[in-house]
Amino acid sequence: MTNNIIIFIHLMAAAIAIGSMIFAVVLLLPSMKKLPEHKGPEEHSTSYKSLELLAPTVFACLLALIGTGIYFLLENYTAQVELKPGYYDLFGVKLVCVVAAFFLSIYQTFNLRTRIADLDLSPENRKLVPETIEQMKKITKLTLTAFSLALFFGIWMARY
Ligand code: HEM
Repeated sequence: MTNNIIIFIHLMAAAIAIGSMIFAVVLLLPSMKKLPEHKGPEEHSTSYKSLELLAPTVFACLLALIGTGIYFLLENYTAQVELKPGYYDLFGVKLVCVVAAFFLSIYQTFNLRTRIADLDLSPENRKLVPETIEQMKKITKLTLTAFSLALFFGIWMARY
């Protein structure tokens, strides 16, 4: 039962992170370009709002994935001796993807996002918004790639 709950949380976190990244950078933002240009403060634009929310969401999901992944390993440590050789090779490759996603997500949440946060308090940062939004879109695409690879190796591990 514990395993089912852990894997349920693991999969929900992966689904929320990957789903929201796909929704934002593949579906929503490209279709927003076809609409009339946004007038008014930058912080009221859809791209600003969606990326501002996306970055911490993905980071929180990643923390949940790391927590549940480690908990799964601890919970099943006695069964780990019966695993086929090669299981930990897949795990190693998966962790490389997770580490990449982790640093990209940290950069996105704690550097790029904070650069353009609280524009009412620091209006001089308004000029950074268009460039930072473009950078955030690029970083989100890279994070999405790392997440998708980790997802693939996770599924492979579970069926190995
Ligand atoms: C981007 C982050 C991650 C994604 C997208 C991801 C995705 C997945 C997926 C889809 C599965 C398959 C579940 C199943 O079908 O039963 C899985 C299993 C697993 N993941 Fe992750 N995972 C991530 C991070 C982590 C981390 C950081 C750890 C460990 C520290 C971890 C450890 C595991 C373990 C131990 C399993 C179970 C494999 C088995 O059943 O033998 N995962 N993961």
